[in-house]
Amino acid sequence: MNESRTSNASESETDSLYFRVESIKLSELYDWCNKSNIHDTAARSPLAESVEKRSLGLNKVTDYFSSGKAYATMRCGRKVNVNHCELALFRKDQNVYAVEDKCPHAGGPLHMGDIEDYGYQQKPCVRCPYHGWKFDLTTGECIYPRHQTKQARVYPVKVDPNDGSLWVGFKCFNEQYFREPSW
Ligand code: FES
Repeated sequence: MNESRTSNASESETDSLYFRVESIKLSELYDWCNKSNIHDTAARSPLAESVEKRSLGLNKVTDYFSSGKAYATMRCGRKVNVNHCELALFRKDQNVYAVEDKCPHAGGPLHMGDIEDYGYQQKPCVRCPYHGWKFDLTTGECIYPRHQTKQARVYPVKVDPNDGSLWVGFKCFNEQYFREPSW
């Protein structure tokens, strides 16, 4: 990789091992900075338009989703498995944020949450779809409700400027790699 961008300044940024996110690139993530996407984009997606015109067969619908293009128009994060961890990825412009998908409150799926900016620094946070708790995507800190000590686990992400591939940083290999086979 040439010079790449690191978006999350969490505690795990330095001395991290970076794992490539398989099959998803920057362009396949919904961009929460794109104001034209802010409202329900499904109606404007190429898929919706094609279905409206009744010109798209089932195979093409399947191809469309498997190519990843559909997800870039859907207002949600992406759930991925990296280093044996389930993560939610969110894109804002050229920055990508990774957070453990399981909400630390009661296990809600954070990749289905909304992104908001908060504070004078306009820091990005994710709002859990279950009970509305909000977590800073750069630190994992719970910013709503106040005085909660539970934190989301966040990870630094690098974007390769050459091909848009995504790399998530971890402190170490997941212990799952070293488990003895059960057979
Ligand atoms: S499970 Fe996420 S706020 Fe309750």
